[in-house]
Amino acid sequence: MKASRIITVINGPSLSRLGSRETEHYGTSNQDELLKMIEERASMHGFTVVFIQSDIEGELVRAVNSASGGSLGIIINPAAYSHYSIAIMDAMTAFDGPVVEVHISRVFSRESFRNNLVTAQAADAFIAGAGIRGYLHAMDILQELAEKTEV
Ligand code: DQA
Repeated sequence: MKASRIITVINGPSLSRLGSRETEHYGTSNQDELLKMIEERASMHGFTVVFIQSDIEGELVRAVNSASGGSLGIIINPAAYSHYSIAIMDAMTAFDGPVVEVHISRVFSRESFRNNLVTAQAADAFIAGAGIRGYLHAMDILQELAEKTEV
């Protein structure tokens, strides 16, 4: 296992509007509440969380690349970029640890373009439709994946 207990949690476009945006898909908790839940679960695992939200593709690529070397793992919800960003997928592929991709909503039960999941091809695990609790499950999975790669 990497010595680092830092995990990087990355949220893509419009996820800053959680709690007010399409609540039928994304629920009523806002970004601060999500972060609080993440911090609580992280402390159970002894993780320190670096949280980044950006609406800009290049900033998301940079966040993934910046996690290399320093972070034990990445949890990422690339939001709309999930469906077409080869740049984010490439950065995820190059990351030197486990990556879990999270989608809050049931992407397979919505518009057909959401079935096309590009970035997920570079993820070690994928969670969709569990609401914001998906981020907590992702943390449990990261812990397990990190233990597996222990030498
Ligand atoms: C999302 C699903 C995407 O299709 C959408 O563009 C988002 C959020 C989710 O968390 O369910 O912005 O990634």
